[in-house]
Amino acid sequence: MSVIRLSDEFLSEIRYRNRIEDVISSYVNLKRTGNTMKGLCPFHNEKTPSFTVYPENGSYYCFGCQNGGDVITFIRNAENLDYIEAVKYLADRSGMSMPESGYDDSAEKMRKTLLEINRETARFYHSCLIDPKIGKRGLDYFYQRQLTPTTIKKFGLGFAPDGFYNLVNHLKSLGYKENDMILANVAGRGKNGGAYDRFRGKVMFPIIDLRGNVVGFGGRKLPGDEGAKYINTSDTPVYKKTKNMYAMNLAKNSKSESIILCEGYMDVIALHQAGFTNAVAALGTAFTEDQATLISKYAKEVIITMDSDEAGQKASKRAIDIVNKTGLKIRVLQIEGGKDPDEYIKTYGAERFKLLLEGAKNDIEFNLFSAKAKYDTDTDAGRLQYLNDAVEILAGVNNEIAQNIYAGRLSDELSVDKQVLTNRIKALYKKRAGARQKEQLREMTSPTVRRDDINPEAVRHKRAAAAEEIIISILMLNPELCTTAFEQLSEEEFITSFNRRLYKALKTALSTSKAFDITMISSEFSPAEMGRIVLIQNKATVYKDSRRELNDCIAVLKEENNKLQKIDSSNMDNDEFAKAMQKIAKNKK
Ligand code: CTP
Ligand code: MN
Repeated sequence: MSVIRLSDEFLSEIRYRNRIEDVISSYVNLKRTGNTMKGLCPFHNEKTPSFTVYPENGSYYCFGCQNGGDVITFIRNAENLDYIEAVKYLADRSGMSMPESGYDDSAEKMRKTLLEINRETARFYHSCLIDPKIGKRGLDYFYQRQLTPTTIKKFGLGFAPDGFYNLVNHLKSLGYKENDMILANVAGRGKNGGAYDRFRGKVMFPIIDLRGNVVGFGGRKLPGDEGAKYINTSDTPVYKKTKNMYAMNLAKNSKSESIILCEGYMDVIALHQAGFTNAVAALGTAFTEDQATLISKYAKEVIITMDSDEAGQKASKRAIDIVNKTGLKIRVLQIEGGKDPDEYIKTYGAERFKLLLEGAKNDIEFNLFSAKAKYDTDTDAGRLQYLNDAVEILAGVNNEIAQNIYAGRLSDELSVDKQVLTNRIKALYKKRAGARQKEQLREMTSPTVRRDDINPEAVRHKRAAAAEEIIISILMLNPELCTTAFEQLSEEEFITSFNRRLYKALKTALSTSKAFDITMISSEFSPAEMGRIVLIQNKATVYKDSRRELNDCIAVLKEENNKLQKIDSSNMDNDEFAKAMQKIAKNKK
């Protein structure tokens, strides 16, 4: 990171032409409240806005997940780019050209190479598929699964031929290095150190990100072959499977307000072919919160369509819990007869599937339905068990009206007095509310939450860290005070090393500029650290007399330094004491 030296002029131009509120507005719906703007955080799931933008000082901060920084940090986080890539992105956005040299873009070059390798690999596999001499087995398989040539093309499906060096040799002929092929995970490293094809004799599903880059692959074995059903790309510098979704690049353009979440690649493709272009799938992993957040950017509702086997039902429940953390609505599609969407459409057609979609149950209905399925509700005992489960389920619903509606339905269904039901539900809900609060309190005070990853020393030196942060904050806001501060207080006097680093960066920035702007230091800190810096930066806005506050804090910090020195010397005394004790012990013998 140290090679990066973009000039202050260039950076302030970047900042000037990419106003933070404009840039963030294309990701987040921001509402102005006084001097700040608020919206739902794009980096974690939330229902009430804690994501705050400060146009005045060009920063943002989420009080829910501590993500924060300047406009460059925002792009780094939102687009998953490194520092220089993010600066280039903003330069492009605002029609500026990058300076010729003076910065380190090796990470960016490497990623570019990996993306090229992925693209060439996808092309190669696709051409193998449609070459009858090579890809017949793969193409026959896709045709047998009733995919049309248009679909095959649209999804860029391919075939990886048998043999260990087909792709490697092809990529070599294009000038790519074996190491980069291995980094892209399209090749493995052999015992002799060389690269060999990772996918052999497989039909290939390229995974394409939202910007149209091929970022990875799923390779499926053909019927009759040995081995795992799928081999997938592991995480690489351009691919993280928990953050991407299969076919999201296509689904995001569908006009629908829902996203259909499927289990497999084949389901997604079959649905798209049948006209349901809002289908996506997780990538060989369980559905994650990041994926839910991704969906919530493009849709208002998720329709979960897992297989109707036990594993599928479990996956549905898990997905419901995750989606429930977002503002997304949920419905669950029940496919009768142990079929997945692909099979269902083939058997009954797209029209019937559409009806099925329209009738999909919401999450409460789904949970009640799966509870009921466990018991024989023709018997009193079975009905009672179902009722108990149902009360549990409804007590877990954070919505009194919904509780009431379903209690009413249950009472009709099972001929039980509605009042009795609602009373039980309410009692249980209350009991849980107490437990929920306790849990929250425990989380807030537990040591794991109090651990500070960014400034780990702050916990041990609370008073000093607080003073350090106020000093930094005041100087950021009032650079005219910095001459006196820099004279009075050296960076060695900072006790926590993170704050010391920040103070030093501030000193350097203010040595060439009269005004401070966090963009001047954002190349030197990680995105996580930038979040902390914004939090510190905004501390000083409350002081009436900043100069006095600054002097007080400097005094506190010096006091804390003195205390530490005393402890140090008393430690030495202790050492000497220990030595003396040892001597005495020896003499006794
Ligand atoms: N999967 C995987 N590795 C496996 C099995 C499954 O990564 N060994 C992932 C794949 O993303 C797959 C999804 O889980 O698409 C669902 O698995 P499955 O239903 O077995 O595969 P499908 O692609 O749906 O194929 P089919 O229609 O033949 O069932
Ligand atoms: Mn399947």
